[in-house]
Amino acid sequence: MPPRRPARSGTAGPSPTPTARPRRLRRTPALREWVAETDVELRRLVYPVFVRAGGGAPEPIPSMPGVVRYPVRDLATLARELAGEGIRSVLLFGVGRRKDPEGRDAWAADGVVPEAVRAVKQAAPGLVVATDVCLCAYTSHGHCGVVRGGVVVNDVSCERLGRVAVAHAAAGADVVAPSAMMDGQVAELRRALDAAGHEATAILAYSTKHASSFYGPFREAEGSTPSFGDRRSYQMDFRNAREALFEIERDVAEGADIVMVKPAITSLDLLARARRRFLLPLAAYQVSGEYAMLKAAAGAGVVDERAAVEETLAAIRRAGADLIVTYFARDVARWAHEGR
Ligand code: PBG
Repeated sequence: MPPRRPARSGTAGPSPTPTARPRRLRRTPALREWVAETDVELRRLVYPVFVRAGGGAPEPIPSMPGVVRYPVRDLATLARELAGEGIRSVLLFGVGRRKDPEGRDAWAADGVVPEAVRAVKQAAPGLVVATDVCLCAYTSHGHCGVVRGGVVVNDVSCERLGRVAVAHAAAGADVVAPSAMMDGQVAELRRALDAAGHEATAILAYSTKHASSFYGPFREAEGSTPSFGDRRSYQMDFRNAREALFEIERDVAEGADIVMVKPAITSLDLLARARRRFLLPLAAYQVSGEYAMLKAAAGAGVVDERAAVEETLAAIRRAGADLIVTYFARDVARWAHEGR
């Protein structure tokens, strides 16, 4: 019988199993670009915008270099600039004109968010306009819902959030995004919107929102730090993943159109699992603390800002996010323009 394989000559002969050489496709930039698996397209990025009442110049937010609170009257110009840069959507956050224990200003028809929605829609009709639906920037105690006897009560809060969503929808918001983490808030928003004739307004549910250290800079921007206690009786424990999937499942059943996970970089496992399990568009929020950390590290010369930001966004996209809310959206647009 002849040998099945050619006899080996010495020790340098061919191995029976070919060695995998992934480095072949890493050899040149052209090859790497050709086989890259993930793109973070500008159309997927949502730019958060803080809006306040009154005039004057935009106010910088010290913990978030490059992010400002805009007066409403700057929004038309901003919206045109964003559209010109290739940004496709904004998420509006209002800073309350006055705070009271109930957060009444949150659902005022002439409130800062409805005014902002009208301004953006008029100036740049092609932008998708989403609004954050919560009470924390409008309540004197800074909690996301109504407080009774020292407790954030659930169902009354949902009813109030429904009013906020209707006020935003009436002003022309395409999407409302409830972030208060009250049980049943999506169902209540859907009911209130439909009852007011806003069947076409979509709901982007902040479905799994961990009680996180990484919202600190945002609370500085919004003036929404709770005056007592913390948010752990309504935001999720960051140790829980099954519960996070349960929250998403409930929001889907309650009528959410898009589900969201936040913070992003601490929830990549949840994004990957949610992507496999649910069919709706999936969003991730790269929150204020994630932004501030990257800015601080870049400012200290520890990382290259563009490279580090692109790496985090690619990871979030790779994990399964269809949409990414990020304060870096305008930087990404600029970098795309500048090229490699
Ligand atoms: C409002 C809300 C928060 C964020 C989005 N909506 C703050 C919070 O829950 O305390 C955080 C966003 C960010 O940190 O960028 N409830």
